[in-house]
Amino acid sequence: MKKLPSPKIRDQVRMIPEMLRAPQPVLEELESTLGGVCGLGAGPMRMAVIGDPRALREMFALPSTSFRWGHKFNVLGFVVGSGSMVVSDGDDHVRRRASVQAAFSRRRLNDWIPMIVEQTDVAVERIEAEARESNAPIDLYTSGRALVLEVAVRAFFGERIASRAGDIGELFRRPQAYLESPAIRQLPHRLPFTRRSKVRADRSRLDEIIDDEIKRCRTYPTGDPNDVLEALAQDSKLSDAEIRDQVVTLIGAGYDTTAASLAWMLWRGALEPLMWGQLREEADSVLGHPTGSGAPIDHTQLAQLKFAEMFMHEVLRLHPAGVLAPREAATDIEIGGFKIKKGTLILWSPHLAGRDPVAWADPLRFDPLRFDGVTDEERKVADYAWVPFGRGQRNCIGLVLAQMELTLMIARLAQRIDLRPLAPLLPGPIGMVVNRPLGGVPMRVTFRDHL
Ligand code: HEM
Repeated sequence: MKKLPSPKIRDQVRMIPEMLRAPQPVLEELESTLGGVCGLGAGPMRMAVIGDPRALREMFALPSTSFRWGHKFNVLGFVVGSGSMVVSDGDDHVRRRASVQAAFSRRRLNDWIPMIVEQTDVAVERIEAEARESNAPIDLYTSGRALVLEVAVRAFFGERIASRAGDIGELFRRPQAYLESPAIRQLPHRLPFTRRSKVRADRSRLDEIIDDEIKRCRTYPTGDPNDVLEALAQDSKLSDAEIRDQVVTLIGAGYDTTAASLAWMLWRGALEPLMWGQLREEADSVLGHPTGSGAPIDHTQLAQLKFAEMFMHEVLRLHPAGVLAPREAATDIEIGGFKIKKGTLILWSPHLAGRDPVAWADPLRFDPLRFDGVTDEERKVADYAWVPFGRGQRNCIGLVLAQMELTLMIARLAQRIDLRPLAPLLPGPIGMVVNRPLGGVPMRVTFRDHL
């Protein structure tokens, strides 16, 4: 077994802080100089960076007991709670995840389809109202983020507290900004009047909202089969504190990631007008005219949105919401022929895997049709190189919901609006925790009904 190759100390001194600020260029430098599996840091700050899809295949095949998610670097626990599945290991993780997984049945997901399309229509109306009020370009990142939240609140709480989506979004704003702040600001303490104490207060207010809803679900169950909270509240395997932590996790893990992906889809669509036209043509023939009064859209139509789905796949390949995802080695392990010692923080990268030149022909070319008619052999390779949602027992629990949302949203948006970007290029700076365009998605928007 070989030792992990690592950069020289002087390069590491430069790379580690850069990695905390903007990981993509450092990851690319590491991969081009040392390969897709390498080491960084030392001692208690020992890290392994893995972006080679073949090594990722090995990693995902290892039992989950080889890794720990509740490790010292996992700062998410402060926001999502120590009972959240994302910071749990062993039996606790299995129990928490199983309860949530049961609430995400295929039937429930399918029943959300008309609501997702309806909320996209409402978002278009909001954008139209904004355009009427001012001539300024519109930031579609903000509109898309609000849309994702409206969908999440309805999906997780039913229609009951949909009117409070704005309040809930506001309570997530500060915690998410806090998670993106420099590590030094995130050191644990209980001092009052600090960002950390404000985040704690926001979380308490969120807990109050969720507690009220849990009580209401138990006292006056609606029997709404689409209501995830009601399903969790009736599941005796989770305590109320655990239910709260899972609900905050579901919104937190799904909100910025899905909104960021939608933002990249809008950028790509705006820069590729022919593809936008193709999305529209497909959506027109599958979904019908937006103002038409046909039957509600369901999973059979979703399955026919083939180009929209490939477009979504291609955007997530090049712009995965997590450039890096962390886990700690719980035992000594071997990946790609290299020894990774117990206690090493493993940073695996969907970004590197999505741009791997062996797995993908001309990897930087944006081409949704690369997913069309792939052979079994190509599919096998791509399977481990397309990992925006991870793989295996700890993969993203929201992967079906997120893909469904993104496919339906982009199809409906292409039917209803035309985009003119303010700049002819993809934006550069991206968020540190979630890969989103920091400058948003400022566009000139015109409305198809008015064309
Ligand atoms: C485009 C959107 C999304 C992306 C790219 C994404 C990506 C990921 C990734 C990379 C992981 C970590 C896998 C690992 O550590 O190996 C993850 C975990 C997770 N995601 Fe997502 N996610 C998205 C949307 C969502 C949504 C909508 C939800 C909620 C409905 C969600 C809930 C979760 C949860 C709860 C976990 C932790 C699972 C566990 O620890 O067992 N995500 N996601």
